[in-house]
Amino acid sequence: MKWTPGSWRNFPIKQQPTYQDQELLKKVEEVLSSYPPLIFAGEARNLKEKLAKAGRGEAFLLQGGDCAESFSDFDAKSIKNLFKLMLQMNMILMYSTGKPVLKIGRIAGQFAKPRSSDFEEVDGVKLPSYRGDIINGMEFTEEARVPNPYNMLKAYNQSAATLNLLRAFSRGGLADLNRVHQWNLDFIKDNPLGKRYDELSTKIDHSMKFMAACGLNSDTMPQLHQTTMYTSHEALLLNYEEALTRQDAETGDWYDCSAHMLWIGDRTRDLTEAHIEYFRGIQNPIGCKVGPSMEEDELIELIDALNPDNEEGRLNLIVRMGASEIKKYFPKLLKRVRDEGRNVVWSCDPMHGNVEKSSSGFKTRDFDNILSEVEQFFAIHKEMGTVAAGIHLEMTGNDVTECTGSTSCAITAEGLASRYHTQCDPRLNASQALELSFMLSDTIAGTDK
Ligand code: PEP
Ligand code: CO
Repeated sequence: MKWTPGSWRNFPIKQQPTYQDQELLKKVEEVLSSYPPLIFAGEARNLKEKLAKAGRGEAFLLQGGDCAESFSDFDAKSIKNLFKLMLQMNMILMYSTGKPVLKIGRIAGQFAKPRSSDFEEVDGVKLPSYRGDIINGMEFTEEARVPNPYNMLKAYNQSAATLNLLRAFSRGGLADLNRVHQWNLDFIKDNPLGKRYDELSTKIDHSMKFMAACGLNSDTMPQLHQTTMYTSHEALLLNYEEALTRQDAETGDWYDCSAHMLWIGDRTRDLTEAHIEYFRGIQNPIGCKVGPSMEEDELIELIDALNPDNEEGRLNLIVRMGASEIKKYFPKLLKRVRDEGRNVVWSCDPMHGNVEKSSSGFKTRDFDNILSEVEQFFAIHKEMGTVAAGIHLEMTGNDVTECTGSTSCAITAEGLASRYHTQCDPRLNASQALELSFMLSDTIAGTDK
């Protein structure tokens, strides 16, 4: 069947809002279709090449950011903190692996959320679930929960402003390798992780001085002065994605220009449904979550539907089984894909299979489980002789208390209440994310030996 940006509309679809005013929806889609793209096709092609490298083990993929971005929690400081945190993790991982780190933010478009239930009930009152700011409001009122098409325009504008700042940070000097010390965030400077990072920065400083003495500095080598951070989100709300799908003048191919990379969630990856139809036609690098319910045959069919040419760097499979399940479900999938010679980029999302309810009532994830899933993921790949290409995290550069545990901040169930700010799922805070990076770099360094 012929693919068009709108052919997904002929397929069944899950996790979508029911808009009351269809006329208004259509108008908003038209307006969005007339707006400039947020990224351009050449950038998506570059990312695909870099992902191909990650898939071969020549680069490390670091994908991370909020579970859900928010309209009300939108400020330069949070964007800057996440950017700095990614740079710090980049340094830690680059130093231990000796490989370039490919940075992809869950940012500048990560607004639509799949939900486990269509309704939420509080004290006997039942309302439609919150589906992310691009769709409706989080507030528990009837009015807020009505899906509003205008939110798509707000999401577009916020994404454009966010991306603009990321591009400024990447090119404007903040990412200069002579500034590694300055990336340390105020609230972790004095804890053991901040100190460990500082020691690493000092080593990098020495290398920079040595290189400068050889005549290699930021003026002569732009690589030392700038970086690239790509954007990604779950392309759940296809009305929005379709409106930003554009034909590349150079190649004639279609790209979703709302972000460099898009992924399909674990709840919307049914082979006969709309999301697979939409994704098969766009040429961006794409991801697909792989949870415990994925069957072996189904996975091969999914790979072939999304990447029929077996192109390297096209498809990132983001494994999210849970620390207690990964050993049971993942090895057989990995073996099958390896044996059938399919090129995929494997990464580990240790967040979505490890959600639990804390004794204090908060939705949380325990740091030990997160770490354990990552370690098992790497160990399974090692055993299978395949490449563990990277990680996919929900994290923030801010000082929140949403995930329990870790040595550096030891958040208890009671401690969660102090700064529990997430719009949706619990994120690692900056200190926990650094701790994970150091542990991971020890694991990888161990694996390589
Ligand atoms: C997510 O990444 O925020 C998400 C909802 O993941 P999954 O589809 O794996 O549940
Ligand atoms: Co999430």
